[in-house]
Parts: sequence; structure tokens; C-alpha cells
Amino acid sequence: MNAGIYAVSDLHVAYPENRKIVESLWPRAAGDWLIVAGDVAELFADVTWALTLLSERFGKVIWAPGNHELWTHSQDPVRLRGEERYQAIVRQCRSLGVSTPEDEYPVWTGAGGPLLVAPLFVGYDYSFREPGVTSKEQALARAHAAGVVCADEVFLHPDPHPSRDAWCRTRVTLTEARLAGCDPTVPKILVNHYPLVRMPTDILRYPEFAQWCGTELTADWHRRFHARTVIYGHLHIPRVTWHDGVRFEEVSVGYPREWRPRPRPDSWLRPVLPASVQV
Ligand SMILES: [Fe+2]
Repeated sequence: MNAGIYAVSDLHVAYPENRKIVESLWPRAAGDWLIVAGDVAELFADVTWALTLLSERFGKVIWAPGNHELWTHSQDPVRLRGEERYQAIVRQCRSLGVSTPEDEYPVWTGAGGPLLVAPLFVGYDYSFREPGVTSKEQALARAHAAGVVCADEVFLHPDPHPSRDAWCRTRVTLTEARLAGCDPTVPKILVNHYPLVRMPTDILRYPEFAQWCGTELTADWHRRFHARTVIYGHLHIPRVTWHDGVRFEEVSVGYPREWRPRPRPDSWLRPVLPASVQV
């Protein structure tokens, strides 16, 4: 069996069931790569535990941060906030050989290559709003009125940026410049915790939650930057959608309470290369 690229996200290893899932993740062939598209855990030690275990097994692990890694949780002895917390996780990843959005994007040269795998850290800016809602303030007010407020508002500090959306805009500018500098003849797998286009959020149970799920600023990145596939998580709605001929796949494990209404997959690892036949 040829080596390939697999993806998973939203491991949430604080749950014992999820920890067992992480322990069950093994390569199918020597040299397989694993994309981890964010929300490994909230506690720094849990993030380290999972990425250590996976980096010892897979040929390469590629990580993009989720919102949960960036929380400063009350039970975490690591009290770093915002940018400092992100940079501390990046340093931890580098010590494990895990690729991050701050590193050179790795190029897969095995079967199906060359393919550049770009882990992104872009965030959200409250721009995925409901019809008729024209500002972040209005979107947040509606969410509070509906009782649907993301815990990021309490735990995800943007320091030293003035707001989470300002941090997002800074990241968009940085990331756009890096992607624009990549060889356009090499197709890409773009990895971001949030979907780069809004449409996958249209089926959220609570539409107010979409404002914490991405940014309109990335709506054309899959076309502009020659993506073959976009991998994301966060929504806890694993599925494939197609946008302008580009495959988008949500690869989350999610919370144990979410598994009951739908059958658990044979494997939590979603094949990216060779591509899954699921649509
Ligand atoms: Fe998330």
C-alpha cells in the first residue's frame, strides 16, 4: 500500500473516549502524513500529549490551530494568552517535528504529488452573519439574545491584538502574502480550522453561531491559491462539499454526545490522498 495523506480534527482529548480515539490512530502505510486541523484540546499538556503520540507514529504531522488550543482555560497551569500562547504551541510543535502555519509548507512528493500542504491560522471576524445583520455588534447582540454565544468570548484572548477579529485580519494579511508567494503550478491542500467559504455553516442548528466559524475574507482562496482540497473542522459536521470544483472536507471527531445520532465511521482518519470516495 502506498503512503498517503490523512486528516482529522476536533480531537477534544479532555474526553476519555476521545483520548482512546487518539490512541487508536495509526498510519495505514509507512510514511503516511497526518493533518490535524485544530481543536486537539484546551490544556497545553493535553495538546502536547496528543501531538507527541501522533508525531511518533506518522511520517509527518501537520497542525493548524483551532480555537480550543488558544483558550486560556481556568484549569490550565499554562496561563499564556493570545499570540504568546499560539507561539508557545508553535515552539512545542517544532520540538516534536510537527509542521505549523509558521513553518515552511511541506510538499508531498509521494504518489499523487507534488502537493503543497499549507496549514493556516486565519481565525474569524464575525462576518458570517445572518441576513439583515450588518455589523459585528448587531450579530453579537442577536447571539446573546438567543443564548448562543461561543465560549471563545470568555476564554480566547486576542492579546496583544485589540480584538479577535483584528487578530483575524492580521492573520489574513500575513497568510495571503505567503500563499501568493507559493509556486502556482503546485496544487495545494489548504488546512484551516474554519471553512474558507461560508456555505458549510448554512446547516448549523443555531445560525447565530456562524459568526465564530470563519471570515468572508477567505471566500476565494481555494480558487486564487490553486487548492485541490480544503480541509477544515470546527463545525462537528463531517461531510464533503464542492466549491468551484474544489473538494472541501470537514474531518472532525467532535464530542461523544454527538456520535449517537449518526453512525461512527469505520476509521476516524479521513483519506485526503488518495481521496475518499465519500461525497
Ligand atoms: Fe473549533
